[in-house]
Amino acid sequence: MIFRNLEASCIKTSVLVLVGVFIGYSLHFLTYWENPHLAAASLPVDACAKNILTPRTVPDYNKYTIPNVVHYIWFSNTSKRREFNFVNYLSVLSVYKIQQPKEIIFHCDLIPTDRWWHKVWDDFPITIQRVNTRTEIFGVPIKYIEHASDIVRLEILIEHGGIYLDCDVIVVRPLDPLRHYPAVIGHEGPPKFNAGTILAAPNSSFLRLWYDAYKTDFHPNKWAYNSGEKSYQIYLEHPRLLHVENESLSTPRGLSLPDMMKHIVDWSFFYTLHVIEYEKDFTPGNIKRKQSTVCEILRYVCYNSKEAVWD
Ligand SMILES: *[C@@H]1O[C@H](CO)[C@@H](O)[C@H](O)[C@H]1NC(C)=O
Ligand SMILES: *[C@@H]1O[C@H](CO)[C@@H](O)[C@H](O)[C@H]1NC(C)=O
Ligand SMILES: *[C@@H]1O[C@H](CO)[C@@H](O)[C@H](O)[C@H]1NC(C)=O
Repeated sequence: MIFRNLEASCIKTSVLVLVGVFIGYSLHFLTYWENPHLAAASLPVDACAKNILTPRTVPDYNKYTIPNVVHYIWFSNTSKRREFNFVNYLSVLSVYKIQQPKEIIFHCDLIPTDRWWHKVWDDFPITIQRVNTRTEIFGVPIKYIEHASDIVRLEILIEHGGIYLDCDVIVVRPLDPLRHYPAVIGHEGPPKFNAGTILAAPNSSFLRLWYDAYKTDFHPNKWAYNSGEKSYQIYLEHPRLLHVENESLSTPRGLSLPDMMKHIVDWSFFYTLHVIEYEKDFTPGNIKRKQSTVCEILRYVCYNSKEAVWD
């Protein structure tokens, strides 16, 4: 008798657990994998603005030419789904913790619906600005969605000024020493710049020359011509309009990312690190102990520790 009761209650518990798992999974599925097109359409534009960060104790007035506002661009209304991943989350975390901007603005055509986006949205004050992607630049059809982002980032920085970061750029130390210049970019080894980190005052002359060059010299087939090479040529003609960081922005010079995935180098002089290709390799678990430059930096941002984390 006792055994039969026990058996019945076991079955009841199992059924309850199964039902629970089923409901939980369905909720998870609905929340995280809803159609991104529907999700963006259902969000009223100004309901997205949240509270602004408290400015840092050092007042900004008249001290800097470049506003302490961080801009991201996210275009995902394409045939290929773009996932907001853990490295994208760490990028925003690094901005929030290390740069402490007045505002973080996420310019996007569609709002991401991924797990890490939900966390970023819950954790940090982010302003969303709806911006449409481009299919052409001054009448020339684009081939790469990245070129749409290249032109839009120039428009945003010319109009508002601030700090533009690709969504996979990690801020390693405050960029304030660079905010005195009219515009700043990093070498990807001459003769090329990396446009993953750009700082500019509003209406920067360099950025206007760069933007105008798209009108006559846009090459849709060449991946980094307009963003990297053309901008470098303009700099050689107008060196006073731009400050170039030789080895501390985006892809520190002489150090390839594959090397930094394997070895530890001194990264104390980096301002930002561009995690490019390796974005999808990282999880909160696997950055805890791995010995590489990139993992040290991600660990520093995530766990406040360069050393391995044991828990
Ligand atoms: C997504 O792209 C399609 C076709 O390019 C367009 O018709 C639609 O309006 C876009 N949706 C959003 C939310 O931008
Ligand atoms: C931008 O700068 C140019 C020349 O330096 C000036 O003619 C123009 O009025 C400026 N625009 C704004 C919006 O300040
Ligand atoms: C940039 O760094 C390289 C070595 O990494 C050096 O040879 C070059 O002179 C530097 N240029 C400037 C302008 O500092």
